[in-house]
Amino acid sequence: MTYKQLAKRAQAARQHSFSPYSRFRVGAALLSKSGKVYTGCNVEISSFGLTMCAERTAMFKAISEGERHFTAIAVATDEDRFISPCGACRQVIIDLAGNIECILTDNSGAVKVIKMSDLLPYPFTPEDLQHH
Ligand code: THU
Repeated sequence: MTYKQLAKRAQAARQHSFSPYSRFRVGAALLSKSGKVYTGCNVEISSFGLTMCAERTAMFKAISEGERHFTAIAVATDEDRFISPCGACRQVIIDLAGNIECILTDNSGAVKVIKMSDLLPYPFTPEDLQHH
C-alpha cells in the first residue's frame, strides 16, 4: 500500500466524521506492518471535552483488535492545507506505535510525510516507566 493509497483511506474515513459542533471533519488511516488498515474519524460529544479525535479512534480500534506493529498513519481533513495531529494524539501515536511516519494530506490529495519524532521531539514514552 502506498502513502497516497493510505491517504485516500483517511479521506474516505472522514466521511463518517461525527462533528455537529465544530463541523471540522477529520479522518485517519493507520497502516499495520502486516498491511492491514484501521480507519477512524472524529466523534464529538455534547460535553465537548469527551470528544475523540480521528487518530486516536483509529489507534484504539487497531490495538483493541490485537494489532501491535505499525508503519504509518494518514490524516485527512477538508482543509486546503496540511493539518497535523493534536498534541494528545501525538503522545498516543508515539506510545502505541512508536516513531512511525505521519502522512498529512490536504483536500487536493497532496501528501506530506513527516516522522512522529519530528512532530513530538523528546517525548515521554512507556520505557520511561521502566526506570522508576
Ligand atoms: N480533531 C481530530 O480529529 N484530530 C486532530 O488531530 C485535531 C482535532 C478533531 C477534534 C474535533 O472534533 C475537531 O477536530 C475540532 O477540534
